[in-house]
Amino acid sequence: MDPIANPFSPGAGSRPPELAGREQTIKDAEIAIQRVVQGRSGQSQIFLGLRGTGKTVLLNEVMETSERYGYLTAFVEAPENKPLTEMLYPAMRQVLRKLSSVEAAKHLAVRGLAALRGFASVFKVTLGDVEIGVDPDPGVADSGNLEVDLGEMFEAIGRAAKAAGRGWALFIDEVQYLEEPELAAVIVAVHRMSQRNLPVMVFAGGLPQMAKLSGDAKSYAERLFVYPKIGALDKQAAYDAILKPLAGQGVMMEDKAMERIFSVTAGYPFFLQEWGYHAWNMASSSPITLDDVFCATERALVRLDDGFFRVRFDRLTNAEVDYVEAMASLGSGPYKVNDVAKALKKQPKSLGPRRASIITKGMIYSPSYGEIDFTVPLFDDFLRRRRVSI
Ligand SMILES: Nc1ncnc2c1ncn2[C@@H]1O[C@H](COP(=O)(O)OP(=O)(O)OP(=O)(O)O)[C@@H](O)[C@H]1O
Ligand SMILES: [Mg+2]
Repeated sequence: MDPIANPFSPGAGSRPPELAGREQTIKDAEIAIQRVVQGRSGQSQIFLGLRGTGKTVLLNEVMETSERYGYLTAFVEAPENKPLTEMLYPAMRQVLRKLSSVEAAKHLAVRGLAALRGFASVFKVTLGDVEIGVDPDPGVADSGNLEVDLGEMFEAIGRAAKAAGRGWALFIDEVQYLEEPELAAVIVAVHRMSQRNLPVMVFAGGLPQMAKLSGDAKSYAERLFVYPKIGALDKQAAYDAILKPLAGQGVMMEDKAMERIFSVTAGYPFFLQEWGYHAWNMASSSPITLDDVFCATERALVRLDDGFFRVRFDRLTNAEVDYVEAMASLGSGPYKVNDVAKALKKQPKSLGPRRASIITKGMIYSPSYGEIDFTVPLFDDFLRRRRVSI
């Protein structure tokens, strides 16, 4: 069928034609957003899930929701090898600039900008061409202790936003790449907002392996945030994700074809988009048949193996490849760390650093003590396919 009219949208962060199965998560966020801007308590959220489950899409959705309720927003992606302050600085500067144009908030926003100057200089943020144009406010947000200073910046923004009758929502994607002190600082800052009843919320998304927090940050984190699990779609939602966009274009799909898509994709959103996309292109007319889905599977796997899986695989060193191949040789996960060591004929302890490095790269995570699994769904199948073809 006409590829130009293809409704599906495989791709990182691209909005699906039907955002299936996430109604409750969005509703919960919407309630918290409304409560917080009205000066009531509400929990910030951290969406946790494997690759391609729709965390970025959800963050974007919640961002639009918060804008509807009067929030100013900022979206940052936690950088892999750069400090968070580099990303937050322009976001904070932008919101303060916007608030400084609101008469009722001007005074507080300008004070916030002055604090931001101190913040930028103490954390050595490279300012590039941008100049703030106000003198720093010594003693505010310039102690060099990120927990304290970020809290002071959030407070300055929160006060200005409140004066303007607005809120501020900060979105942080790929939160697993934050260093532990950075994540702790964000959490402590959010705690400060809730204590002072200021309209600032943080929504984050990341892989299930979150930094192991300690001390105050940990106990705040447990109370302040909810951690919705963003996983594969159940059968009903997966069917909706495929069949509704088709119906929107007057196209049907045979039951067996849909069943097949559900079973090969295991309901993972990214794969659903990919299969829907190819099934549409392979079919000559409605209804899309099981044969069309067979052809789509062939296409989809080639594309995934050369793209989605490949780019992640290429980040591994040879020793790391041996490790993940040993995992895949054991079937599907989760895997016992000891079994992987046995498959490699090594002592589990000696493999610790290698395992840690693959975790840091975001390829595997530990779902429970002594166990590991892939963060990319169906990655084990890819590794086995790859072994057969070389
Ligand atoms: N609820 C949903 N229903 C249908 N398709 C979805 C849904 N959520 C996401 N998708 C699709 O899944 C794909 C992946 O979404 P997204 O990039 O948000 O995932 P992610 O969890 O952020 O992945 P990563 O961890 O790799 O960043 C996109 O093509 C998107 O259109
Ligand atoms: Mg994402």
